[in-house]
Amino acid sequence: MGKEEWTKVDEYYSSLFMPHDAVLEQALADSAAAGLPGINVAPNQGKLLFLMAKATGAQRILEIGTLGGYSTIWLARSLLPDGRLITLELNPKHAEVARKNITRAGLERVVEVRQGPALSSLEQLVSEQAGPFDLIFIDAHKPEYTEYFQWSLKLSRPGTLIIADNVVRNGAVADSATKDELVLGIRRFNEAVGKEKRVSATALQTVGSKGYDGLVMALVNGNS
Ligand code: SAH
Ligand code: DHB
Ligand code: MG
Repeated sequence: MGKEEWTKVDEYYSSLFMPHDAVLEQALADSAAAGLPGINVAPNQGKLLFLMAKATGAQRILEIGTLGGYSTIWLARSLLPDGRLITLELNPKHAEVARKNITRAGLERVVEVRQGPALSSLEQLVSEQAGPFDLIFIDAHKPEYTEYFQWSLKLSRPGTLIIADNVVRNGAVADSATKDELVLGIRRFNEAVGKEKRVSATALQTVGSKGYDGLVMALVNGNS
């Protein structure tokens, strides 16, 4: 069993649950044409993000790592008319492609793309008192996940849902001898989440068209 079978199952469910979506398909096509890497979440994962945002009634969403805005569009579509999403992106070309895709999706008044290093933007968001956010999606530079998590806590309230992508990396996350800086970054993040009394967390392994990876979900606790 491998990616070929997993992709067939993704396609089977997509054919039943997800109608063709010209805006999302064009966002991926334009991202590829502009030379962006195809490391966006899979369609079913995008829909999971959309459903999580809907289910939690999120009205303020923060995304760390925009790429071409594919996951951004999924998340922003969950918002009611007054909702707002801020997404952070280091690469100016990625930010430009994302802005065009977001505009085509009719979401330019809902989404703000902030270009720059996420750690600086996060510090700025705290100083602006831009929080609390209801849902935070962490998906930028893996060695910085721990710091994104610490800033995310400052931008949270009890009930905020923090979701982190790419936490399994083909199973490498469970290898305590790994020398891969990206995997080490994820392991350090996982240890911080595990030790953090303010959150209750779980991890889900995923297989599909994007290979074998996974998500961590951490809910910021109430006072009880
Ligand atoms: N969330 C996107 C995929 C993001 S890929 C989706 O699923 O559609 C990771 C993105 O993080 C890339 O666009 C990369 O340029 C960006 N990134 C890397 N380092 C960053 C940093 N320090 N600050 C902000 N963004 C960063
Ligand atoms: C990769 C995948 C991602 O979803 C991401 O955010 C960063 C990198 C990758 O497969 O390399
Ligand atoms: Mg990712």
